[in-house]
Amino acid sequence: MCGIFGCILKTGQAAPVIHEGLKKLEYRGYDSVGIATIDDGNISLKKDSGKIDEVHQWHNLDDMPGRLGVGHTRWATHGAPYQENAHPHTDCKNQIAVVHNGIIENFAELKSELVEKGHIFKSKTDTEVIAHLVEEKLKKLSSFVEAVRETVKMLEGSYALAIISVAEPNKIVCARKESPLVVGVADDSLYVASDVPAFLSKTNKSLVIENGEIVVLSDNGYQIHKIGDWQSVIRKPELIEWAPEAAEKQGYPHFMLKEIHEQPIRLRDTLRLQDKYLELMTTFLDRAGEVFLVACGTSYHACLAASYLFSKLSFLATHPVIASEFVEQHGKSVNIDSTLLVVSQSGETADTLEAVESARLRAATVLGLTNIVGSTLTRVSRVYIVQQSGPEIGVAATKTFTSQISVLSQLAIRLAKKRGKVSHTEIEDLEESLERIPDIAEEIIETKEQKVKELAKKYGNQKCFFFLGRGMASAVALEGKLKLMEISYIPSLAYPAGESKHGPISLIESGFPVIFICPRDSTRRSIIGNIMEMKARGASIIAIIEKDDEEIKKLADDYIEIDTGLPEVLSPIPFVIPLQLFAYYMSIERGNDPDKPRNLAKSVTVK
Ligand code: AGP
Repeated sequence: MCGIFGCILKTGQAAPVIHEGLKKLEYRGYDSVGIATIDDGNISLKKDSGKIDEVHQWHNLDDMPGRLGVGHTRWATHGAPYQENAHPHTDCKNQIAVVHNGIIENFAELKSELVEKGHIFKSKTDTEVIAHLVEEKLKKLSSFVEAVRETVKMLEGSYALAIISVAEPNKIVCARKESPLVVGVADDSLYVASDVPAFLSKTNKSLVIENGEIVVLSDNGYQIHKIGDWQSVIRKPELIEWAPEAAEKQGYPHFMLKEIHEQPIRLRDTLRLQDKYLELMTTFLDRAGEVFLVACGTSYHACLAASYLFSKLSFLATHPVIASEFVEQHGKSVNIDSTLLVVSQSGETADTLEAVESARLRAATVLGLTNIVGSTLTRVSRVYIVQQSGPEIGVAATKTFTSQISVLSQLAIRLAKKRGKVSHTEIEDLEESLERIPDIAEEIIETKEQKVKELAKKYGNQKCFFFLGRGMASAVALEGKLKLMEISYIPSLAYPAGESKHGPISLIESGFPVIFICPRDSTRRSIIGNIMEMKARGASIIAIIEKDDEEIKKLADDYIEIDTGLPEVLSPIPFVIPLQLFAYYMSIERGNDPDKPRNLAKSVTVK
């Protein structure tokens, strides 16, 4: 999973602009980087393994001639993160340069045919085959655009491509299949990128390139065609409401902390979604034979919490499923009466899209919840909702999780209302409570951050953590664990607290930290029992509790007290925030970069 960028400027040097654009895409992958520009009929190319700042220091990525070029920041899938595997990749004569995000599944057979024709390959990547294929096509075809078109027709798999060639030095030819691709339009320049933040500081006019399309950028503007029948596609740019600084850190040391602090604003935006889509999605859920809640990682934890919501409020039984297991677990039983509510902040996660594709092939109804307008999930969904969290740059999902829970709560309340399963007063109380959540989140962030920071300092050297909760809090426990593991690299476990007696408790010894998530709900007596069990074996109890919960305060070694006054079914949002902050400050305690955790990337577009 990588970030690609390209630009054509009327005047000036493209390299510094490409460098800046790649910096904005670094959250998509950061193990190697490269830029290629065209000037005076020659391609200049600089690339190496390492983060952008490191490679810039070694090679000065800004010092390259030409007002047109492409660039790439990589997350290795094929070929280890060495210089030769960094993009852009070129043909035998360095007259064509390609940057690619995705996977070419049939690259091996294409490569061997090209090698037979005498092509010499310099890398172990799948992508390099594209440069040589275009080179091969240009031997017969006079048009660079035509050569790219004939090339992409031979490719199987996923790709967002941007290609330049000395054959037509004032063009960038781009193509899309599955991997995201957007174009930015300014008066004196054109941009192509994997994501909008890359060119938001240059223009807020953007358009999405759809699957199966080629777009040609040149001094005369942009032209879109369908790869298949070359039909011309007219698509006007849309205005992006995000302010350029939205993609910047606004004074926070890391995007993750900025995004945690952004949650109150984003949660307010999430309460302003279009009624018609919420209502339409509620109708589909009401009529569904069986409902699967499908997602990966943090989005799956939102689905797990939602399964309790739908059952408790709307009496709707749902199956929360980890997307990468969906086909194996339910692939054969899915049918026309099945409905998948699919949750993915990026809308591009390959495991999630694979589950969707298998279900669509069995005529199931797909409903989508995502954060990215124009993402693939929006294109494969019968109805979709864009949750309005704004760009999330930190790899660890925070604001998108709480927004997902907010949308899923709204759907469950609407369904409860539609089905008349909950009294009118209770519905009113739930709707009023939902409206109060952004303020509650604000108060927690403002008043509890310091306390959490102190706890991170106190427990900074611990080797392992347990996260325990019951009911919906078990989903919050899983999310707290994931946040801590992915950015602090501390091995941790999370369980529905009742399950801890069936094995995990054997790990407990004196001082072993156990974090309990304890909203005041119907599981109270049981969770207190679990706290006692852990305490009896010497565990250090850290409890996230409701205000004035004196009983648990007495049992806990440390606690974070939050004032929610919310119905239990709305507890996940306020209770996860201290855990997000805890993970962030533990990561800082460990000297890690919370925005760019090792081995991870923001959206996992490979299976
Ligand atoms: C969460 O912090 C991680 N970045 C990861 O688990 C993520 O939630 C998962 O990859 C799903 O991403 P999606 O919501 O974009 O599909």
